[in-house]
Amino acid sequence: MEIIKNKSLKNFNTFGIDANAEFFIPIKKKNDLFDVLEKEKNQPIKILGGGSNLLITQDISECLIKNEIKGIQVILENENEVLVRVGGGEIWHELVLWAVANNYGGIENLALIPGTVGAAPIQNIGAYGVELKNVCEGVEFIHLEEKKEYAFSNDECHFFYRDSIFKHELKGKICITHVFFRLSKAPHSLNLTYGVIKGHLEKKGIKNPTIKNICDTVIEIRNSKLPDPKELGNSGSFFKNPELSKEEFLSIKKKFPDIVSYALPSKKYKIPAAWLIEQCGFKGVRYGNTGCYKYQPLVLVNYGNATGKEIQLFSEKIKKAVRKKFGIFIQAEVNIW
Ligand code: EPU
Repeated sequence: MEIIKNKSLKNFNTFGIDANAEFFIPIKKKNDLFDVLEKEKNQPIKILGGGSNLLITQDISECLIKNEIKGIQVILENENEVLVRVGGGEIWHELVLWAVANNYGGIENLALIPGTVGAAPIQNIGAYGVELKNVCEGVEFIHLEEKKEYAFSNDECHFFYRDSIFKHELKGKICITHVFFRLSKAPHSLNLTYGVIKGHLEKKGIKNPTIKNICDTVIEIRNSKLPDPKELGNSGSFFKNPELSKEEFLSIKKKFPDIVSYALPSKKYKIPAAWLIEQCGFKGVRYGNTGCYKYQPLVLVNYGNATGKEIQLFSEKIKKAVRKKFGIFIQAEVNIW
């Protein structure tokens, strides 16, 4: 185990924020983490995954653990499915490509989501009608204060829309070392609920899509709408899509009849934050070194030298404008350090 002093985090967060980590500690196995906990007794600790859902607004004085625990292992298999145990430090998109190459289904709609496998359960990543909770069998983690290992079932993770127990009771207290996935063998049941995927497949004349076709389509759609963090720093959707009660929704619809909405099984209404932000005039708008992406205003971008504080300030400006115009509170989806 190596402790690196004063490391720039510029290449360790997809916003590309140049903050300093006083103590940067990559870990490759569970025991490395137990060693750190033993050696750095009572020192505050932070865990870094792919840094893709993170806005860093200050230098990090805590011990910063970089989860680099690797490994993709099929641990159970039958005619219909496989159970896979994956190291938290694996890159999410590489896991998707591995699954598709092996014809294991269930995560092809989640292609190209940036970040690591260990971070994926924290916000229950989701896209194009699929969420991690649909395929996650459970999670192994180490409790940093108790210095104990736990294994949680899917139910115990309390997954909700971009949410889990790891954002509440266990926030900042754990390091996810491994995640278990239950993936299907062919014939797969595909998720084509998002019209945009169906549309793309039809355009290509694909009538009976494979999971590879879906994965390729999702990659195409994401590449056309979302900026590549290597070219333009960003952290995907900065805000969550707000959910309104029927009463709140109807009263806002009276004033804004064109409001876009999706009725949820919970009887609430989900409003695309992208629409609210666009209506407030922020789409494609630049504000100093930051701004709203031209094709998807829910994505805030770093034009080069933005500080985390600058992006945070801009995000507050957007929140305020949405609150003023619609009376709706939008909440950050990214973690702010
Ligand atoms: N919209 C606009 N203007 C725009 C773009 C979108 O008004 O410029 C409105 C449209 O009404 C559109 C709606 O927003 O129909 C939804 O847009 P989109 O399909 O792009 O999805 P989203 O709700 O903005 C969510 C996730 C994304 C995920 C996509 C696809 C959240 C916070 N974001 O975005 O996830 O890729 O659906 O499933 O739930 C992420 O979490 O980082 C992320 C990128």
